[in-house]
Amino acid sequence: MTLKDFRAFFNNQLINLYPKKEVDAFFFRTIEALLQLKLMDFFTNENEIIKEKDLQTLKTIVSRLQKEEPIQYILGATEFYGYQFNVNSNVLIPRPETEELVSWVLEEVKNTEEELKVLDIGTGSGCIAITLKKELSYLEVNAIDISEKALETAKNNANFNQADVKFIQHDILSDKRLDCTFDIIVSNPPYVRELEKKEMKANVLNNEPHLALFVEDDNPLVFYERIADFGIKHLNKNGLLFFEINQYLGQETKQILMEKGYKNSILKKDLFGNDRMIKANL
Ligand SMILES: C[S@@+](CC[C@H](N)C(=O)[O-])C[C@H]1O[C@@H](n2cnc3c(N)ncnc32)[C@H](O)[C@@H]1O
Repeated sequence: MTLKDFRAFFNNQLINLYPKKEVDAFFFRTIEALLQLKLMDFFTNENEIIKEKDLQTLKTIVSRLQKEEPIQYILGATEFYGYQFNVNSNVLIPRPETEELVSWVLEEVKNTEEELKVLDIGTGSGCIAITLKKELSYLEVNAIDISEKALETAKNNANFNQADVKFIQHDILSDKRLDCTFDIIVSNPPYVRELEKKEMKANVLNNEPHLALFVEDDNPLVFYERIADFGIKHLNKNGLLFFEINQYLGQETKQILMEKGYKNSILKKDLFGNDRMIKANL
């Protein structure tokens, strides 16, 4: 089969499941990952015959896309803030909203050339921690997660990106303390309520780790409360706390921080106009 014929096959198999634009994006991502062909290369090579072994792998990708598996898990990688991250079913696929959170942290600290100590809570793929270290090498970056498998992926990503980040397994809902303090705590904790499941796409619900996503309806801000308490014990003077938040619970999250004694809390919207981030200090 030629590359051109495979594109027709790819479209044909997926067009009833995804919008055309998305099918095109999947196609070009797939041939770039598997055949190292960029978009322009496709047009100059479209009459080339695909090797049998590659064709089998490409067809497997098509059938996984038909089952609505996220392309990032199928290809095993995604981009975040211009860096490549390996992803698998043990870690959340990093989202563009989280890139905005990282930008906000960087804006705040870029002019302080001090060796600030940072902690990323619930690091998953390590995208926040690793990006902060790559962008500002003078930061001392630590990251925790409850999931050993997520930490394994995060460590691989740190090696791949040559970022010196310290990873620790820790349950933030436990009362155990860490024996160090930090200048910045940043977290994108689980925040989706069970009741919001019905708004979610099947590809997220059926593939991404529920440990990373969901909280109980009757205690949706549990991570924010516990991380705020943790911050009281572990933040240095003038330390900053940054959160990604549930868009429907912006005011409630702000209120919790105020009640715990945090000051100057600022709620910020994401590119889609939803309340998505909070910054505060003690
Ligand atoms: C929403 S994901 C965020 C992942 C990554 N930081 C990102 O922004 O893409 C939340 C992360 O919190 C971790 N987590 C869940 N419960 C935890 C707990 N009790 N203590 C520490 N981490 C936890 C999950 O394993 C998951 O990696």
